[in-house]
Amino acid sequence: MSTLQAVRYTRGKLEVLDQLRLPHEFHYDLVSNRTEAFDSIATMRVRGAPAIAIVASLGLAVELHNQGLATESAADTVAQIDEALDYLKQSRPTAVDLTNAINQLKARIRAPENADKNTIIAAFIEESERIFEKDLQTNLAIGASGTEWLRSNTGAATDKPISVLTHCNTGSLATSGHGTALGIIRTLQSSGLLRHAYCTETRPYNQGSRLTAFELVYEGIPSTLITDSMAASLFRTQKDKTNITAVIVGADRVVRNGDTANKIGTYQLAVLAKHHGIKFIVAAPTTSLDLETETGDGIKIEERKKEELTQITGAVVRPDGTIDESSKVRVATADQRVGVWNPAFDVTPAELIDTVVTEKGAVEKGPDGKFDFSKILPERW
Ligand code: MRU
Repeated sequence: MSTLQAVRYTRGKLEVLDQLRLPHEFHYDLVSNRTEAFDSIATMRVRGAPAIAIVASLGLAVELHNQGLATESAADTVAQIDEALDYLKQSRPTAVDLTNAINQLKARIRAPENADKNTIIAAFIEESERIFEKDLQTNLAIGASGTEWLRSNTGAATDKPISVLTHCNTGSLATSGHGTALGIIRTLQSSGLLRHAYCTETRPYNQGSRLTAFELVYEGIPSTLITDSMAASLFRTQKDKTNITAVIVGADRVVRNGDTANKIGTYQLAVLAKHHGIKFIVAAPTTSLDLETETGDGIKIEERKKEELTQITGAVVRPDGTIDESSKVRVATADQRVGVWNPAFDVTPAELIDTVVTEKGAVEKGPDGKFDFSKILPERW
């Protein structure tokens, strides 16, 4: 069985899995320049904070590799790359990984050893590739740290495996591989510590049912899909029966005090977890930390179009359970005149979060009830 890959890259060639067609169809789009990268991100054919940053960086890298730039001086080259990066930054506003990648790339092209156009372009391409490659190592480290934290804090053991709930998609499809929150679940499973994984449908865009459920089944992880509105009842009726000890979610942006923006619906799960005595874990690479923003009030929340709530794409299911792609049709699920509020993310207050698991270890709150990220990121604190 091959590993799921959202992004396939060799120097000069970038292919991005069209996640709007999953789970029925595996189709990779060729992304050959900044405009196609922007479009892929804005239309959510690729999604998830780390994957967005990777596609933006590599999309520009392949354009620079194959087409170069119509500049001569080093200063003009840096200015043109900056302009392309600022354009890509507008593709989606909430996830901070893209901004952090852009800052990293801007710093790298300004390194003193880049004296001319060609060295600047080469430096950009190398740094983009580094972002891509590093993400996988980061996710494996998050998987290990999260599993260790659960061992110590929930009593998870091979003779006492735990069940967990996750929301949205944070797996291979949202990253360069393994995943963040889903990475912890993968590592729990391979360590013999996982009894069962529940995943939410994640309305309105259904990243949970379309992507996470697919990844869990693909990996052979024992799993059950629920609608978002079933979580409270799941905790009340199944917590003790199946040893549900943790909710594990990803992050689009964790700010200085630990407030965390993630897929809409995350906040209500944190409230429910607190009520039911279930640990609430945020899995976030340090590329998802925004230490310049003090609290969640400073996070811009993307609002998306009303059709995501009022319409759905359907296709005929054949008697054998396969999908007839040629029958695809857009159908209404609500009166098309109704007003809609469709925020893509919400903010979970730090007080409801037990730990933020990064590749540099699990960060917990101090006696003052505050997260202190200076321990893992002194250089950015
Ligand atoms: O709107 P999306 O599909 O890009 O949202 C994805 C999420 O919210 C994920 O949970 C988040 O990006 C964490 S990514 C590992």
